[in-house]
Amino acid sequence: MVEIHSNRLEIRKIASDAEAKICAEIMSSSEPWITYRFTYEMALEYFMNKTFEIYVAMSSGKIVGFLVIEKEGTFTGYIKSIGVHTAWRGKGVGKHLMQYAEDKIFAVKPNVFLCVSSFNTEAKMFYEKLGYETIGELKDFLLKGYSEILMRKSISSILEFRGGKK
Ligand SMILES: CC(C)(COP(=O)(O)OP(=O)(O)OC[C@H]1O[C@@H](n2cnc3c(N)ncnc32)[C@H](O)[C@@H]1OP(=O)(O)O)[C@@H](O)C(=O)NCCC(=O)NCCS
Repeated sequence: MVEIHSNRLEIRKIASDAEAKICAEIMSSSEPWITYRFTYEMALEYFMNKTFEIYVAMSSGKIVGFLVIEKEGTFTGYIKSIGVHTAWRGKGVGKHLMQYAEDKIFAVKPNVFLCVSSFNTEAKMFYEKLGYETIGELKDFLLKGYSEILMRKSISSILEFRGGKK
């Protein structure tokens, strides 16, 4: 539990289908998902996916943001998506969700990876401020004409991390 703008913020695992519906609403009504034509139904299917690790940020019993991470896969330690309710942006919720993800991922892997859409310059600035570096560009990845920018934050090489030296 952390304090932001006099509000208590709790981050925990998503707990019900009703919470998945609220996350789907936040996602489908916001960029970058609007550009990708990610409808409410598609977003709901995404948040109902039991193979994803899904977390919600709660304030006064309300969901104000979400975080989806993958600890396995091609780029292990991958933040699939993060979103904050429009009314709650700029208050530190996103930063706390990122800190939460990093605490989980850096406990077991030395890199955190994520992708940000080429047109999502605000989110890119947000990630840069948190220490993420651009690794490359995935052209026409989700939708023709748009790129996904792959970003990484690293605390050590993989071999040093395995050796426990960092
Ligand atoms: C990107 C997003 C998650 C950031 O969450 P947030 O709660 O608004 O961000 P925070 O209030 O935690 O800001 C953290 C820091 O990033 C900075 N920041 C946030 N938005 C920024 C922006 N648009 N431009 C520059 N810096 C920004 C803040 O100034 C703050 O810096 P500080 O700690 O020095 O004060 C949120 O705006 C969002 O949900 N956007 C729409 C969905 C999205 O784009 N998700 C990413 C998909 S890849």
